[in-house]
Amino acid sequence: MRGARHKRMHSLTLTRLASPAAIRDAALLPHIDRLVRRTLDSWSPSSRVLLLDQAKKITFELTVKQLVSFDPGEWTESLRREYLLLIEGFFSIPFPSFLSFTTYGRALKARKKVEAALKEVIRKRKQERATTARREGEDEKKKEDMLEELMEGGEEEEGMTEEEMVDFLLALLVAGYETTSTIMTLAVKYLSDHPRALALLRVEQDGIRARKKDEEEPLTWSDYKSMPFTQCVINETLRVANIISGVFRRAMTDIHFKGYKIPKGCKVFISFRAVHLDPDYFEDARMFNPWRWQNNEVVQQVGGAGIYTPFGGGSRMCPGYELARVVISIFLHHLVTRFSWEEAEKDRLVFFPTTRTLKGYPINVWRRRKEGSESEQLGTIPVNLSSSSSSSSSSSML
Ligand code: HEM
Repeated sequence: MRGARHKRMHSLTLTRLASPAAIRDAALLPHIDRLVRRTLDSWSPSSRVLLLDQAKKITFELTVKQLVSFDPGEWTESLRREYLLLIEGFFSIPFPSFLSFTTYGRALKARKKVEAALKEVIRKRKQERATTARREGEDEKKKEDMLEELMEGGEEEEGMTEEEMVDFLLALLVAGYETTSTIMTLAVKYLSDHPRALALLRVEQDGIRARKKDEEEPLTWSDYKSMPFTQCVINETLRVANIISGVFRRAMTDIHFKGYKIPKGCKVFISFRAVHLDPDYFEDARMFNPWRWQNNEVVQQVGGAGIYTPFGGGSRMCPGYELARVVISIFLHHLVTRFSWEEAEKDRLVFFPTTRTLKGYPINVWRRRKEGSESEQLGTIPVNLSSSSSSSSSSSML
């Protein structure tokens, strides 16, 4: 997508789905909170869960709700089953489509089913809108979702066909689903491997929960804004293991850079990973060290200079950057305040074809005891919320 259409869709995504204002004011935050709690509530007090699966369930249900206002249920689950087959096709060999038993063939079939399901939703919505228009004056409540926004644009004015709407909805589903859920899982993996970081994060999150009347009271925007160490953990996870290792751009004109010429028309791959792991910018670059983000000098050096770019940059920068942070933060909050866990099997990080843990991170979880005995145990780990090497802290919203 390019030009004016791209601009409109980008800003629509930002304003409707993911801007701080949309998250704060449009009751999105309590909704995310509810979805996360709902999934965690479904875990028995002591059980084994595949964390990546659970994280994906949350991000899928959230996105479907934002796109077409469907709450979790049978419809979303069957859509998700087809959608998973579709995603598998992204990383498979494109055999001819008549070989329907291959991963690629199954993905094509699933794409058709997902498309049909979404078209059905679009048609029903059109009917609802037509009925509402006839009953003008009865003050019917309009749906507040992306589909409504696309329809408000008007098919004639924007020339958006049903197919294009389906494509756009699917693109949004893909953009936020795999990325956010993988980072949720990897953050937990890194925390498990770094008990001191986990202890600090837990102290921060326990502090927030202690100000609430019970486990159910949802987090607010100001709670989210008082999680500086959690943001350091998210920053660091995105730095060492971003699921998006880089992006492509095309040179629109001849570019001269450090003695090299990139001719007009050339495609360039901008590798985030190469810069994020460059020791010139990050000391002990391959080490997971969330405390580095408490150092304002580091934050300033890499933030504004296009060095730390987990969400890309320029006119195509990820519009979901704040939404992703909010979802990951809320997830970490409920996970660490309610549960303890250990790896159920040894799992490891791989970076090809995408960044993930090989087994989807199976863990054994158990409920934390209510009255702080565990926190007391954690208290034996030195829990100093500021870095030993720096005096200042930063919420580091890079
Ligand atoms: C941790 C989670 C996420 C990461 C790491 C991530 C990262 C990225 C990156 C690197 C890009 C390419 C930017 C560029 O070309 O400069 C991108 C694009 C995009 N992301 Fe995200 N993203 C995340 C979550 C989300 C979420 C939750 C949404 C849903 C609202 C979303 C929607 C999009 C869209 C629509 C684009 C295309 C933007 C355009 O081309 O104008 N992303 N993302």
